[in-house]
Amino acid sequence: MNNIIDGIKASLELKKEIKKEIEKDNLTPSLAVIQVGDNKASEIYVRNKQRACCEVGINFISIKLPDTISEDVIIREIQRLNNDISVNGILVQLPLPNGFDEGKIINEINPLKDVDGLTFPNVGNLVLENECLVSCTPYGVMELLRLYNVELSGKDVCIVGRSNLVGKPLIQLLLQKDATVSICHSKSKNIKDYTKRADVLIVAAGHPNLITKDMVKDGAVVIDVGINKENDSLCGDVAFDEVIKKASLITPVPGGVGPMTVASLLKNVVKAYKIQNRV
Ligand code: GUN
Repeated sequence: MNNIIDGIKASLELKKEIKKEIEKDNLTPSLAVIQVGDNKASEIYVRNKQRACCEVGINFISIKLPDTISEDVIIREIQRLNNDISVNGILVQLPLPNGFDEGKIINEINPLKDVDGLTFPNVGNLVLENECLVSCTPYGVMELLRLYNVELSGKDVCIVGRSNLVGKPLIQLLLQKDATVSICHSKSKNIKDYTKRADVLIVAAGHPNLITKDMVKDGAVVIDVGINKENDSLCGDVAFDEVIKKASLITPVPGGVGPMTVASLLKNVVKAYKIQNRV
């Protein structure tokens, strides 16, 4: 039995749907990405986003700023994009270089254009189950679980990692599906006690091989959000080769959650376009 979740195939399907929707309704969505400094990983992520936008017909605007600029310059740039009706999505690539106040900068983005779902109104609306833009990686994880018919109601789901971008929004999305959610982090004691009882284990901690087979329940669904570089190749947070023998479903890295994150971003840009244009 093939128990590997194919994120590339799923993302291709999603992109095909998005492209069709854009073409059918003659939509003209546009995404602006602000990058500060020259973080190598960010370069790759942004290039992937640009390529994906191009594939489906979303206009991509790249704004690169040196890390020597002041916070005010970024804020003025965001305000200019907020006021530009031809721009539907604004994304500040994270992490920002040291010394920049990420929270302050992100919250300058008009929430209707906040395709990362990181501004106060979007975070609040997610908790309250109101219409909002949801952070792309959690959205991609939920899409994979839906596509692979993973039942969540009443199931024990363990999230390892509590970032604003992944762990925290996932708590809300899983609660909305009536899962029983536990969340582990760097200060948690005996992580294994939690991971071992999980029907669905979602790992977004940024530590290669953090999850080994002894920490996983037989038949669990394992979603690996980690992207780590080891000896010039990419790996996730899960020791894939051994955990695959216990999991009923597992995402590989690369080729699992990553492609879904990008596809979800495209979906958010189209959603933002529609909200702004009342389509
Ligand atoms: N850096 C890594 N992933 C992301 C993401 O989804 N959004 C932003 N803004 N920065 C990131």
